[in-house]
Amino acid sequence: MEETILELKNIVKAFPGVKALNGIDFNLKSGEVHAICGENGAGKSTLMKVVCGVHQPEEGTMSVNGTLVEFHNPMEAYEKGVSIIFQETSLFEEMTVLDNLFLGHEVSKKVGLISVIDYETMRHKANEIFQRLNTEMNLNEQIKNLGVAGKQMVEIAKALTFNANIIIFDEPTACLTQREVTALFQIISNLKKEGFGIVYISHRLEEIFEMCDRVTVIRDGQYISTKAVKNTNKDELVAEMVGRKMGSYYPKTETEIGEEIFRVKGYYDDGFLDNISFHVRKGEILGFAGLAGAGRTELMESVCGFTGHAAGEIHLDGKKIEIRNYKDAKSHGIVYVSEDRGKYGLITEMSIEQNITLPQLKNFANQLSLLDRKKEGEVGAEYIQEIGIKAPNSRFLVKNLSGGNQQKVSVAKALALKPKILILDEPTRGVDVNAKAEIHRIISELTQKGLTIIMVSSELPELIGMCDRIYVMKEGRLVGCFDREEVTQEKILALELESERV
Ligand SMILES: Nc1ncnc2c1ncn2[C@@H]1O[C@H](COP(=O)(O)OP(=O)(O)OP(=O)(O)O)[C@@H](O)[C@H]1O
Ligand SMILES: [Mg+2]
Repeated sequence: MEETILELKNIVKAFPGVKALNGIDFNLKSGEVHAICGENGAGKSTLMKVVCGVHQPEEGTMSVNGTLVEFHNPMEAYEKGVSIIFQETSLFEEMTVLDNLFLGHEVSKKVGLISVIDYETMRHKANEIFQRLNTEMNLNEQIKNLGVAGKQMVEIAKALTFNANIIIFDEPTACLTQREVTALFQIISNLKKEGFGIVYISHRLEEIFEMCDRVTVIRDGQYISTKAVKNTNKDELVAEMVGRKMGSYYPKTETEIGEEIFRVKGYYDDGFLDNISFHVRKGEILGFAGLAGAGRTELMESVCGFTGHAAGEIHLDGKKIEIRNYKDAKSHGIVYVSEDRGKYGLITEMSIEQNITLPQLKNFANQLSLLDRKKEGEVGAEYIQEIGIKAPNSRFLVKNLSGGNQQKVSVAKALALKPKILILDEPTRGVDVNAKAEIHRIISELTQKGLTIIMVSSELPELIGMCDRIYVMKEGRLVGCFDREEVTQEKILALELESERV
């Protein structure tokens, strides 16, 4: 029954200065979920952009459903049944769900001699598709009012409006809550039963072992291997991705923890954050766990002065301080790395070195108050080296970096400020296992030099591996705190899920 529905042979694709794909083979069968694994910048997204017509390869061949094809744009790929759910969503925020679903392939009908858009048929088709996906959806809702999971559902529905039989998911779970992930896996498993072929890209290796049938590893644009998932294991996969055996995944070093440095007392904000008090000591790594919507990001943004209407006290080094805006926070040495790279993070039209030095340009001026480009370049190069950002040089534009490498730039930018207190919100989202360990190692080393870290993460192993203490948040309140020695995933989950307010 299983037939090969997608076959790539010897795909080559170069960008100026970067050979992104260098002879990749890949095939997909109907009714299978096929994972693609590789480090940040390995070429996973680029390969899939070739498959769906965004990029044209310089060499190689591609067959879809048994016929050789060449796609010049995504519409041609859609028409042959290939759909992709991108790492960054590609929907139009201001338009409705219905308009997005049929954009560029509206159904029309003849009224007399003229042809008009047939909303009734489109509506009918759309409702049928959402029913098949087991999802409630208001077709008139504007995309901007949907959450991440809702947007993703629209993208999946859009694929089905094209009668796709190949669907590609590029890191679909990076921003989803656990419940949303479960729902997505149910949908993927149904699509699989219906005979779809599915390509699945993720840095969460557990998902690959839970969901996928085969896995292909690529490294630096080269094809490495394809295996049945049941015949491999995590260590083997990682070794193939990285090209060597990996050491510890959470390289925490022992650090002397000093006096209390920072304290938040009786904190309220906007009716949501409710009487929050916590403290952190010098050299400590303090974690915040909680389900999406628990208020962790709101708390950090508020403490750093982004929202600017909070009640409560903040103490630094034993003295009460005022933080009215983020500039105040920075002047006290408190730096925030947002979970949303676009929001307070990166200017993607600028280069890596410009992004890193942007918040502290005055430190990069020479005697004539002109920008010292040489110094800027040196600092850029230093961080590329230290955090392992995959780029030809530090002048490379951030928009041309892979997703995980953009994340590394946003961490580098904060580190370069040499803060006292560094607040990291989902610092390793979309980052591969090896780079994750690198970022953890750097964080750990910095605490030895006296830096204090507050870390929000939805990945419990990361929190448990790295933190000295972990607070658990729920519905805008703190509901518990664990020391490193006593904490377990089960204890945190139990607190998060307890339905009663404590
Ligand atoms: N438009 C572009 N111009 C120049 N270089 C690019 C462009 N798009 C991608 N690249 C480069 O191609 C390489 C592969 O990038 P790609 O996005 O495919 O990686 P990836 O495997 O998806 O990584 P991640 O896990 O971080 O998402 C990277 O070195 C990246 O910088
Ligand atoms: Mg990618």
